[in-house]
Amino acid sequence: MGRIADDKIEAIRDRCDIVEVVSSYLPLKHSGVNHQGLCPFHQEKSPSFNVNSARQIFHCFGCGVGGNVFSFLMRMEGLRFPEAVRRLGEKVGIEVEEEAVSSDEIRRREERERLLQINEVAGTFYHQTLLSDESGGGGRHYLRQRGYEGETVRAFQLGFAPEARGVLEKHLLEKKFAIHVVQQSGLVRPGKQDRGHYELFRNRLLFPIHDLQGRIVAFGGRVLDDSLPKYINSPETAVYHKGQTLYGLYQARDAMRQSGEALVVEGYFDVLALHRAGFAGAVATCGTALTADHARLLKRYAGKILLIFDEDAAGRKATFRAMDALLPVGLAVSVVAMPAGEDPDSLIKTAGEDGFRRCLDAARPVLEVFIEDQLRINDLSVEGRARAAEQVLERIRRLPGDLERSLYLQQLAGLTKLDVELLRSKVSGGSLVQPQVRRAVAQTLPRQRPSAETEKTQKYLLRLMLVNDQQRRCVREEGTEGFFLDELFRGLAEYLLEREDEDGRLPEDLFDASLDEAHQSLLASLKFQDDQGWADNPEKILSDCRRAVSNYLLKRRLQEVDRLEEEARNNNDEAALMQYLRERMEINQKLKKKL
Ligand code: CTP
Ligand code: MN
Repeated sequence: MGRIADDKIEAIRDRCDIVEVVSSYLPLKHSGVNHQGLCPFHQEKSPSFNVNSARQIFHCFGCGVGGNVFSFLMRMEGLRFPEAVRRLGEKVGIEVEEEAVSSDEIRRREERERLLQINEVAGTFYHQTLLSDESGGGGRHYLRQRGYEGETVRAFQLGFAPEARGVLEKHLLEKKFAIHVVQQSGLVRPGKQDRGHYELFRNRLLFPIHDLQGRIVAFGGRVLDDSLPKYINSPETAVYHKGQTLYGLYQARDAMRQSGEALVVEGYFDVLALHRAGFAGAVATCGTALTADHARLLKRYAGKILLIFDEDAAGRKATFRAMDALLPVGLAVSVVAMPAGEDPDSLIKTAGEDGFRRCLDAARPVLEVFIEDQLRINDLSVEGRARAAEQVLERIRRLPGDLERSLYLQQLAGLTKLDVELLRSKVSGGSLVQPQVRRAVAQTLPRQRPSAETEKTQKYLLRLMLVNDQQRRCVREEGTEGFFLDELFRGLAEYLLEREDEDGRLPEDLFDASLDEAHQSLLASLKFQDDQGWADNPEKILSDCRRAVSNYLLKRRLQEVDRLEEEARNNNDEAALMQYLRERMEINQKLKKKL
């Protein structure tokens, strides 16, 4: 897809009214200068979701999300930026023509379109068969026996592939699809030695797999008895990549958004069972391991993931693989343990919703489970514990949050009885491969969360940078590290500096596609604060920020000195002890002077 020209994006944004767009999803009420409603992105009873018509932005004071009209649509519909622009373009009558699309690309799109049509026709056919055709009796009986009714069948568009040969093929050919195209879908395959074709699914219960627009991209099919293979799945096609698809996400995403939690389970039936029992935010991978793409997909809808895999060796392996995909994107991950031999579908049947709820409540952070597992695998000798620690440290390094890294280090130290400072040095040193680009800065700054007070100061400065070209120049000249302790804030500051034009001024609309969700939300929250009556002393805000950074660094050093002093005392190292005592005094003086 070619890049959409900036002036086109601007034209579309100018013609859209964010109040109108948001109103088509949720009722908004006038309240002062804003419009308010119940936030669609988290569960709430009183409205903290605000839309500002003059600034054309939204912000939720409850969960913190925010942005402009494009960000809203992206979040709401799970779209990528160009798709959101195109969708709104259609609405206001500005066509987003595609720049120089090759004939190859056109051919690929047509193929995808055809595959989607075939899947849709097949899906309807299978669904009708299950609902009412004589040949679907076996499927109906099977489902009823497992306790599933019409409601679930409809919500998931379940189907049944009849036993008789050639029925689907005939149906598709009647709908004027060419046989070679039908074969691309994998639903009908060429037989051996020209003995006609045969259907992939026969006498199986079918689970259509939907994309985020609700179109069928593939099917999974289960036998009705104990024969093997238990499941068959559509092959990968131009519209189906299982590493990027989650079964049930189309049905689950609203619930995920509301609760902020996603349940990841192993099987199709588990998703159905959970949905029916009121745990609607459940998805399954389609017979494959959880990938980084899956992780990013989930992150659009939830911040917390609950993994529910079988309690066996394979299940544990799958759990930790999922952990490796999920933790680096910044998701909180917990493990829900099922009683041995049960999966969510069977457990809900035997223990009911309450029984299942109790399992959910007992979920434990995945790293905790991983640490225990590593200690179990390795022996308890020093080397064994070191090996275990090494495995765990590798995961801790990939955590994006400083606070979590620190917490898990402490836990690891406790469980392995290894020195926490030693472990800490292993995390920050060594040959760590970090996904973040801002490595250089991350190393020069303390890896800890600043206090609420310094957070407020940094936000003040960011607001100042939004309205005051001069203050922005100050920050540029001295460097953002001298003012911002928190990576999120510093990131936005850097972004603002990047967006300045040659005259050092900021553009009207700052919500660029290159800005990630966390920074968009921060930006919206800043813009939502009244920019009158607070910036009477910009110099003071700058110096407050400077001081917050240096105080913070001094205090951190003080903690270190505490530890070093203690060490020197234990070693009876008088010279070192004196040196640290002197340093402590100096630091304390500096801190006092600055207050
Ligand atoms: N699976 C698969 N191919 C197989 C077996 C399993 O793709 N041959 C996938 C399916 O997505 C299945 C999941 O792995 O839903 C879990 O498999 P399993 O635990 O064996 O089945 P259940 O989902 O528990 O199905 P049921 O309750 O009907 O036994
Ligand atoms: Mn099962």
